[in-house]
Amino acid sequence: MKERTCCGTIDKKDIDNDILLQGWVDARRDHGELLFIHLRDWTGIVQVVFQETESKELFEQSRDLREEFCITITGRVVMRQAGTENPSLTTGDVEVMASSLTLLNAARQLPFQISEKAMTVGASISTPANVAEDLRLQYRYLDLRRPSIQQNLKTRHRMIKKARELLDEHGFIEIETPSLTRSTPEGARDYIVPSRVHESAFYALPQSPQLFKQLLMISGMERYYQVARCFRDEDLRPNRQPEFTQLDIEAAFVDENFICGLIEKIIIRMFMEAGISLPHPFPKISHTDAIATTGSDRPDLRFGLRFIHATDLFARTSYSIFQQVLKRGGHIIGINVKGQSEALSKNVLQNEYARHVVPGFGGKGMTWMRVADGKLDSNIVQFFSDSEQSAIIERFRCEDGDVLMIVADPSYEMTTRVLGQLRLHVAHRLGLVPENTWRPVWVTDFPLFDPTDDGGVTSTHHPFTSPDRTDFDPTDTHDLLQLKSRAYDIVINGEELGGGSIRIDNYKTQEKIFTALGLSQKDIDEKFGFFINALEYGAPPHGGIALGIDRMVSMALGTASIRDVIAFPKNRSAFCPLTRAPSVVSHAQLDELGLLNTGSPEKTTQTDEKSLLDTLSWVSRIGVGDDEHPVMEQAVDEAQALARQVLSQKCDDDPVFSAIQIENRTRPGKSPVEHPAAADGGLLAHAPAIKGDFFKVANIIE
Ligand code: AMO
Repeated sequence: MKERTCCGTIDKKDIDNDILLQGWVDARRDHGELLFIHLRDWTGIVQVVFQETESKELFEQSRDLREEFCITITGRVVMRQAGTENPSLTTGDVEVMASSLTLLNAARQLPFQISEKAMTVGASISTPANVAEDLRLQYRYLDLRRPSIQQNLKTRHRMIKKARELLDEHGFIEIETPSLTRSTPEGARDYIVPSRVHESAFYALPQSPQLFKQLLMISGMERYYQVARCFRDEDLRPNRQPEFTQLDIEAAFVDENFICGLIEKIIIRMFMEAGISLPHPFPKISHTDAIATTGSDRPDLRFGLRFIHATDLFARTSYSIFQQVLKRGGHIIGINVKGQSEALSKNVLQNEYARHVVPGFGGKGMTWMRVADGKLDSNIVQFFSDSEQSAIIERFRCEDGDVLMIVADPSYEMTTRVLGQLRLHVAHRLGLVPENTWRPVWVTDFPLFDPTDDGGVTSTHHPFTSPDRTDFDPTDTHDLLQLKSRAYDIVINGEELGGGSIRIDNYKTQEKIFTALGLSQKDIDEKFGFFINALEYGAPPHGGIALGIDRMVSMALGTASIRDVIAFPKNRSAFCPLTRAPSVVSHAQLDELGLLNTGSPEKTTQTDEKSLLDTLSWVSRIGVGDDEHPVMEQAVDEAQALARQVLSQKCDDDPVFSAIQIENRTRPGKSPVEHPAAADGGLLAHAPAIKGDFFKVANIIE
């Protein structure tokens, strides 16, 4: 077979060469005596021409081509006629005059358009990105043919390759850790896997390889990394998937500076691969300062709007709202939205922000002031004394046109959180976030614990993070909440891309942390005994980090969601519309796994009750014979599971992709009959338009 030439590589150097191309028909244009196609493979697109005058037979054959047919072509490369070049193609100066065509495989009518390139210069093309995402995921193998998604996956590959290269240069080796394991506490729920061999026992899929990578350090495998798949059953967001990929790293005999220095190099190289040059060295900000200035532990530093603390200005105020807050030991903090008084009218500030936006973030309200003619102007300014007004003007560095937004609340956490969300909202709404700007920052010195509602504590990161001191009392919540951790998060543009820490390497400290978390000695032994044991065998000091690869690639490519950089992601309901996973399994399978507990009294009670199938049979007056029972029972179970799944999807913003696979059905024993009106088009005679060989009808079902 002649060697294959890739479509995207063809240019002037190939002129007059006879070449063989293989790929998919991206688009076609029939000009009567001439037929053009865009032939696409994963390197790009080239135009191929079929001429009736050259070979009538070949020309006739080419007229049968449709989008996404997979074909082989031979032909000669020629320059395009002057004026017909297509600058939107890298191969746009040339075209291939076809001399043979082999159809490898035809394609059915497409569920959505795949082509992203118009055949004629300047013609518009409807972007497949507008297609409902669930439909794209249902036909992901077609969606992945789109050059833009292929590009995402290629860039992802190159970014990971760069990280591997750099880690290799620094002496790290890649080691795989198990997927069938015990629970690792990372704060989410586990996906559990039943075991046939060990009845009633379950594996957990790893939320991260945390414990194994620490065990590797104890094993003396001093520098480890892994491109690791992690599984977390948590609420999904655009930057979260139930299974996602981490670049997981751990090293022995190192400190924070080593890890942060190494990671900085890796991140810079990875982003460079996507054409982004990150400013470095990355600055560091303590968790306390991040909260005090931006209200977030993942601060977006691309724009100003830093917090201005004003509690002290109102010690003797007569403004009752502030008085009430201060009486309860509260806080008054604001932002100065410079020069935005035109965009933020009194009406917008009062009726939108104070009434709706801020309460939507959980705040009780917002005090606002506009600055004009060197004075403050608002609905409540008369409650502030002259000296208070001057102090505000000075503290907030007010100039004409500025708008102050102030949040007051008894709780510092609430004040900063609400103002932090308001800060982001205002920045995005007023277009204050500069494009193509990258502001990486390390967030450090986190509290080791967060308080829980029941008066206890929970780990801010995970329980293996080293505290800044070890003399704490694990039963004293107040003392525990004073502890800082040796953890560090890497944040870029307000998104947490990775997190890690120096670990506890002493078993006594590790036990104290578990006790602080409320675990009994029995719990500790049962859940983490193996790990505590390992720490007792001369564990080295060690630390590491995990970077969220999906998030990094998505950010570097500017995609709306991490789903766009994952080949086969789950949808927003953690469901795979392509394989339709998760799915119900048969009774037999559950039984084999020991999950039915068939002999138990509960089961007996259930079978004594009237089954759903019996009820349905009675209601519908359709008798179900004993022999039909098992099959029908399973069908009803499946329907129930599907209904549960449909109901669990939020219907308003999350349409169901399709309840059942669409296919023509006929009664058993009968063969399909085509109505004559369907064959001659009479059936759709009143459809709005005819487009090519098709009737164009209104979109009914997506
Ligand atoms: P952490 O839980 O912070 O740390 O996870 C590390 C990084 O993984 C990414 N990430 C996710 N990406 C997509 N979907 C998700 N559901 C998801 N959850 C997390 C984030 C995050 O910063 N074992 C520790 C690391 C360590 O201490 O070394 C851990 O897993 O980008």
